Amino acid sequence: MKLCGKSVLLVVSGGIAAYKALELIRLLRKEGAGVRCILTAAARQFVTPLSVSALSEEKVYGELFSLTDEAEMGHIQLSRSADLVVVAPATADLLAKLTHGLADDLASTALLATDKPVLAAPAMNVRMWQHPATQANLASLRQRGTLFVGPDEGAMACGEFGPGRMAEPAAILEAVEAFFAPAARPLQGRRALVTSGPTYEPIDPVRFIGNRSSGKQGHAIAAALAAAGAQVTLVSGPVALPDPPGVDVRRVETAAEMLEACRASLPADVAVCAAAVADWRVAASAPQKLKKGPGGPPALTFAENPDILATLSQPGPQRPRLVVGFAAETERVVEQATAKRLRKGCDWILANDVSPATGTFGGDSNLIHLIDARGSESWPVLSKAAVAERLAGRIAATLAEAEENVSS
Ligand code: CTP
Repeated sequence: MKLCGKSVLLVVSGGIAAYKALELIRLLRKEGAGVRCILTAAARQFVTPLSVSALSEEKVYGELFSLTDEAEMGHIQLSRSADLVVVAPATADLLAKLTHGLADDLASTALLATDKPVLAAPAMNVRMWQHPATQANLASLRQRGTLFVGPDEGAMACGEFGPGRMAEPAAILEAVEAFFAPAARPLQGRRALVTSGPTYEPIDPVRFIGNRSSGKQGHAIAAALAAAGAQVTLVSGPVALPDPPGVDVRRVETAAEMLEACRASLPADVAVCAAAVADWRVAASAPQKLKKGPGGPPALTFAENPDILATLSQPGPQRPRLVVGFAAETERVVEQATAKRLRKGCDWILANDVSPATGTFGGDSNLIHLIDARGSESWPVLSKAAVAERLAGRIAATLAEAEENVSS
């Protein structure tokens, strides 16, 4: 029984997936968790309070202005009585209420009043899920630390196909267990900033200078840090990758925008700069499309871009405790990366050998040398996901060590 002694407040909102909440209650109880439930008025159209009460072996809550409920347990107390608040299913409407702080029934009031972490399992029609309003709400909730599980992709009750189906109860149970497993979340309570992908520097409104960075390594690092419990902001240039789960993604194009987005997401405990930032931008990009003409091709002049890694590494109150950069080198890898670490002022450099024989660029694996103040350490050839996991583990251990040193 992995959840013995833990208590969960389960908020069930009104969607067809509400029937799966019954199975979730059963699974949570089986693992030893105490489960109290709030049913919204709409949820009561899908499942009855009687079955919820029978499975949870608890009274079911639903009315904000119920004198008996308030006398037994006030809604504020109810919202704080659990170790974790789970919302399953979380409808588009309830997520919107949570985003904007609306509190017009017991479920939304409890979510606004709680001081406990919230894990939401969204469930809605695919179009509702993809709507910019819902996506903006999710981004803002993620940024505030709301955890999410799902939704899954597949055939939906409404006949459409796509993402929006509530995660299966077993997957929600797994997310609850992961939340309570401290060893699996060594970065809980930490904030991380990751840059990823290329930057695009405009020549004119339709042309740009870019590079071939896929963003795979940076995105994998953001995902690994989030999986380890960190609250992650990923500042990404244009990539063709899905957003990593549980990560607040800020999309940018230019190096200047990337720097601004990074600054806006401070403070952070750790920053990992994995983006392939263009070293130069076109000094004066044309406001209108450049045209062919008798004068021949235009001559472009360049201006130097800000160095984001070096900027984040500058000493000061905003400096993350740990700043990590990458160095893509093709020869004398360790020697050049060691010099780069000192030049940029960061704590660690992950030097990767990008000589063509290694297949690193655009590929799925990486040959890394970790360089810090003490020297260098070579890692075996690892997948980009494994590099990310190893790095996340290192970061967690180093931040914990730094904290111990401060307190002792
Ligand atoms: N970087 C950055 N901002 C820049 C340039 C680079 O944040 N304007 C970061 C990258 O994200 C990476 C590290 O600096 O973490 C090293 O990038 P790299 O391209 O290898 O180094 P450069 O500074 O371009 O040095 P050089 O071209 O001389 O190798």
